[in-house]
Amino acid sequence: MYYRTGGTLDREDMKKMAAEKAADYIKDGMIVGLGTGSTVEHLLPKIGEAVKNGLDITGIPTSHKTKKLAESYGIPISTLTEHPEIDVTIDGADEVDPQLNLIKGAGGALTREKVVAYASKKEIIIVDETKLVQQLGSYSPVPIEVIPFGWYPTKLIIEDRFSCMAELRKDEDKPYTSDNMNYILDCEFDGIGDPRELERNLKEIPGIVETGLFVDLVDTVIVGTREGIKILER
Ligand code: A5P
Repeated sequence: MYYRTGGTLDREDMKKMAAEKAADYIKDGMIVGLGTGSTVEHLLPKIGEAVKNGLDITGIPTSHKTKKLAESYGIPISTLTEHPEIDVTIDGADEVDPQLNLIKGAGGALTREKVVAYASKKEIIIVDETKLVQQLGSYSPVPIEVIPFGWYPTKLIIEDRFSCMAELRKDEDKPYTSDNMNYILDCEFDGIGDPRELERNLKEIPGIVETGLFVDLVDTVIVGTREGIKILER
């Protein structure tokens, strides 16, 4: 699909365009990783419709929210224990750099999203054009999932070691908790020169469960732009 709209597309239209294109990659009999976020929410009804028309797939959701939505659209759902290998996963992102590395986790599902990405033969990312950046960390903080025990010294160590601001994510006046019952520190870096090295160094700190840096995990990025669909391949 490729269409022009005379420049009247808003971000939601561009996300929807990318999500609908991604549906073409889902084939009969596949185990499909289902990402989390507003872009993926455009994809789920489309898969649900295809399932109603006879498509036989099994979805592996990356969050409680996606699981509920997928079930509401009639998509059969299973687990990584039943299906440890996924054929294709489709997920969103907060930032995508020219090497197709990502920042993810604004929706809090980064750890499950990364486990699912790692178990996938193919990882497809769907974004609107505003998510493309020259360098990760240009606009989005890096979400870091930490266990609640000792979250405060963990935050201080991160700030000290990486000269960044680490803010505890809140849900109204309480700490936000992930589906894994952990906290999230949103860490603002002034541009990230080497995402792989940053990730490696962060993961050495006890208490950090996972980071929202996705390095060398993505095969294809489908971008909804004002001019139509653009597909980036690694
Ligand atoms: C969920 O935790 C995130 O990784 C999302 O996939 C990411 O934030 C993109 O979300 P949107 O599609 O809502 O922009």
